[in-house]
Amino acid sequence: MGKGKKWKHGIYARMLALAAHALAEVSKSLTFFRTFNFMQNKHEPKDLWEEPFIPASAWTPCADQRNWTRSEGNNGYIMITANGGINQQRVAVCNAVVVARLLNSTLVIPSFMYSSVWKDVSQFGDIYQEEHFIEYLSPDIRIVKELPEELQSLDLEAIGSIVTDVDIMKEAKPSFYLKNILPLLHKNKVVHFVGFGNRLAFDPIPFDLQRLRCRCNFHALLFVPKIQEAGALLLRRLRNHAPYQLALHLRFEIDMVAHSLCEYGGGQEEAEELEAYRKIHFPALTLLKKTRKLPSPAALRSEGLCPLTPEEAVLMLSALGFNRRTRVFVAGANIYGGPSRLAALTNLFPNLVTKEKLLSASEIEPFANFSSQLAALDFIGCTAADAFAMTDSGSQLSSLVSGYRVYYGGGRMPTIRPNKRRLAGIFMKNSTIEWKVFEQRVRKAVRQTKHVFERPKGRSVYRFPRCKECMCVAEEAAAADVVTKTKRKRRH
Ligand SMILES: *[C@@H]1O[C@H](CO)[C@@H](O)[C@H](O)[C@H]1NC(C)=O
Ligand SMILES: *[C@@H]1O[C@H](CO)[C@@H](O)[C@H](O)[C@H]1NC(C)=O
Ligand SMILES: *[C@@H]1O[C@H](CO)[C@@H](O)[C@H](O)[C@H]1NC(C)=O
Ligand SMILES: *[C@@H]1O[C@H](CO)[C@@H](O)[C@H](O)[C@H]1NC(C)=O
Repeated sequence: MGKGKKWKHGIYARMLALAAHALAEVSKSLTFFRTFNFMQNKHEPKDLWEEPFIPASAWTPCADQRNWTRSEGNNGYIMITANGGINQQRVAVCNAVVVARLLNSTLVIPSFMYSSVWKDVSQFGDIYQEEHFIEYLSPDIRIVKELPEELQSLDLEAIGSIVTDVDIMKEAKPSFYLKNILPLLHKNKVVHFVGFGNRLAFDPIPFDLQRLRCRCNFHALLFVPKIQEAGALLLRRLRNHAPYQLALHLRFEIDMVAHSLCEYGGGQEEAEELEAYRKIHFPALTLLKKTRKLPSPAALRSEGLCPLTPEEAVLMLSALGFNRRTRVFVAGANIYGGPSRLAALTNLFPNLVTKEKLLSASEIEPFANFSSQLAALDFIGCTAADAFAMTDSGSQLSSLVSGYRVYYGGGRMPTIRPNKRRLAGIFMKNSTIEWKVFEQRVRKAVRQTKHVFERPKGRSVYRFPRCKECMCVAEEAAAADVVTKTKRKRRH
């Protein structure tokens, strides 16, 4: 299947036909002259595509405000080589900025680790504007391009200054760094974090350090002009003649599909292909499958633990009232199942585009060998679209994009985030459910995710920037919030 063999829509053939029929009905009811204001059509459940404006717009960006003096960075140097894709790296970079401030250390411009999955040699300066990063954060920390010469010859391994993810627990607290890393800096003058995936807790963190984290993510990291220019071109073409654009991040690459241990209707052939992939890339998982009784694919599915397939994604979007005229920007690389699998999408949404379609071969060529830079173009397309829908809330791209849309969106940049568990229950009825019922149930499931809330404790500030550290909240809205809370209390 991955090799472009025929993909059958299998279990969802019936529902896709229903969706096509429903969308055709909607299109018929729109006359040619009303195309420009199709958004106002009563068939469109517009509220589902929007954020609740009043509570959402009460939050405004303010992570750029500082209330401290610069740290001179006298406690040695922090180096970091971040692993993962571009979005994991971004989180690692901002966490390192905070650790540098916490320890009064100087940060060396981060490095990015080469990975066999992402196959990209890009370094920090190939993706982000180095000068801006250094300058913008200069009232906070000292950042240098490289270690001073006298430290460059040190054998960091030998003196114990290489700190990997084995040495730091996930989401470590500031006290961990003060206790374990600071003495190392005093002794060796330099510490090199290698990996650094999610190595700093979101709570508890002092107010100003949390704010610095947001400042780094939302203000200090600008893409280099080459990426910005291609991104601007992409956005111009995305918006051209399109009254409304929806971006969809379809995280359905083979690595995720294989890792999920779910079944996707491709029968024996699919099962063998995914098992072969796991043997090579996730040997630990293959071993686990042999030695332990893992939940069955059906159980995983009913728990909502399987990524949405392209077919499920289009069924959801159709149910939400997006129609054949909607310009859909699909982000994501190499959909498992190949182009034939994307056919389900293009059948229902003919105005579907990708960065490869919007940019000419010669415009995209300079990025072709750099998966991180291509991902940056997807990031730009997704952050700027009128609405953004994700299929996997665990994806780092989706998470950072939704945070950006909250931070800079002024309450007008909605993100559609399905509750996969609820959707799974609805899809389970695929062989009998009527379209109207399906539509109602999906809308209800999505409506329930549409309230504006403050970042829950322990959750990512990159994804949920609505918190006092990152965003400021208007007084009257805060007062209104208190009123509703009191009312709620009284009712109990
Ligand atoms: C700045 O910090 C000082 C001392 O920590 C505090 O009293 C003051 O309220 C803070 N100002 C702002 C604008 O946060
Ligand atoms: C960092 O510098 C500040 C201000 O000089 C000081 O209060 C703080 O204790 C220092 N922290 C460390 C870990 O050296
Ligand atoms: C991309 O890599 C291929 C194969 O390594 C090479 O032939 C091609 O010139 C590279 N393209 C760019 C734009 O660097
Ligand atoms: C589709 O419906 C059949 C019959 O009800 C069910 O067994 C199957 O699990 C459903 N498929 C999905 C993906 O939920």
